[in-house]
Amino acid sequence: MARMAVLGLAILLAASCALAAASFDKEFDITWGDGRGKILNNGQLLTLGLDKVSGSGFQSKHEYLFGKIDMQLKLVPGNSAGTVTAYYLSSQGPTHDEIDFEFLGNVTGEPYTLHTNVFTQGQGQREQQFRLWFDPTNDFHTYSILWNPKHIMYVC
Ligand SMILES: *[C@@H]1O[C@H](CO)[C@@H](O)[C@H](O)[C@H]1NC(C)=O
Repeated sequence: MARMAVLGLAILLAASCALAAASFDKEFDITWGDGRGKILNNGQLLTLGLDKVSGSGFQSKHEYLFGKIDMQLKLVPGNSAGTVTAYYLSSQGPTHDEIDFEFLGNVTGEPYTLHTNVFTQGQGQREQQFRLWFDPTNDFHTYSILWNPKHIMYVC
């Protein structure tokens, strides 16, 4: 697999992530969304927003070959039907590699679906869907990707 950048995007009302060790402003750029993505609290909090015009997204300044990424996310509560919040690793180019964590929103009171996929050499079709055993909108929860030469592990 190739070196990959860490990206996040919100095609939703408001998602946020907190980074404990480093700071978002040193390690990440807000790459799209025209002000809907924000880095707050001295780089400790990154929030993504969505309205009728656009979503928003961010991307790591560096690319990585193997590692463990722990992303703390709190998803938007209430009616999130038709929205997607994603945190993923991706390399560049048409035969790219990708490791995806996607959260598919739902109507008020109904559960989010966690959707995962892995692309190698531009080929995906490894989708899996999970129902979380907790409410991802109540509080921040850590979602990890462990990526080494032998394994890709998703940890919730
Ligand atoms: C929304 O909730 C319903 C009822 O639990 C479920 O069948 C459906 O798969 C959910 N949709 C998504 C996108 O998670």
